Amino acid sequence: GRVAVLMGGWSAERQVSLWSGAGVVEALRGKGVDVVAIDATRENVLRLREQHIDRVFNVLHGTGGEDGTVQAVLDLQGIPYTGSGVLASALAMDKLRSKRLWMAEGLPTPDYRFLRSRADLDAAAAHFGYPFIVKPSDEGSSVGVTKVKSPAQLDKAWSAAVGERGRTVMAERYIGGCALGHEFTCALLDGEALPTIRIEPDGEFYDYHAKYVSDATRYHCPSGLDAALEARVQSLCVRAFASLGARGWGRVDFMLDGEGEPWLIEANLVPGMTAHSLVPMAARARGMDYAELCWAVLETTLP
Ligand code: DAL
Ligand code: MG
Repeated sequence: GRVAVLMGGWSAERQVSLWSGAGVVEALRGKGVDVVAIDATRENVLRLREQHIDRVFNVLHGTGGEDGTVQAVLDLQGIPYTGSGVLASALAMDKLRSKRLWMAEGLPTPDYRFLRSRADLDAAAAHFGYPFIVKPSDEGSSVGVTKVKSPAQLDKAWSAAVGERGRTVMAERYIGGCALGHEFTCALLDGEALPTIRIEPDGEFYDYHAKYVSDATRYHCPSGLDAALEARVQSLCVRAFASLGARGWGRVDFMLDGEGEPWLIEANLVPGMTAHSLVPMAARARGMDYAELCWAVLETTLP
């Protein structure tokens, strides 16, 4: 069958998706798959049927491609695709609603406030104390995220989070203080957790620059957690993923506090597949190379 790799799109993560897509296209071609690379404009997505596409490998990150919109269009055209369906995609893209769901399930996620106005941000600062996190509730790749360390940063953090298109904004308690480091992620493939990764950014946190530009970010896989904690966070991430109704593959980001307790930050249901990306790194730790990973993700679309 013919596979379309959907990439690009119209989100703030368009460039990241083009990097991810280039990798996936090359890998699948190398495996002998009949691949068409498609820059997912709205028009192209509506017309996949005419191109005799049998299945889609979706590497669209963010708005449109990761939030259930493109998933609905694919459902209507009867084309199977990698990753999660409409509801899970929409939920995971919305950090506020992901957190409410996890809290209802008794899963640990940091305290948060929905910010309707700049005045709400002052109230959040008083509530959380410094540092705390300000971010758009439905963006990816750390676009618009600030670790706010002092009142002087509030205005800038607010504008960065709101952006030009008026995104919804949230504040979140900062999790840190673990001696080992505090930023972690867990890749999920076909219902199973891969080894966790610890991220050691050079700057304040694992921001866009640290993710895609800097060579100074250090990654540890295995992450250095003891076996019991590794197993516990893996099962936590599997539950967080499952509670959203997610399927196929994804990545759950979490942080460790000063007591070494894990806190769920967010789920990414179309995780990055760039040369620096985390899911390929975790797969490698399992002895699965990039092309084998692409193949395995594609296989999750089979009935
Ligand atoms: N949102 C980016 C692509 C990631 O989660 O990897
Ligand atoms: Mg994300």
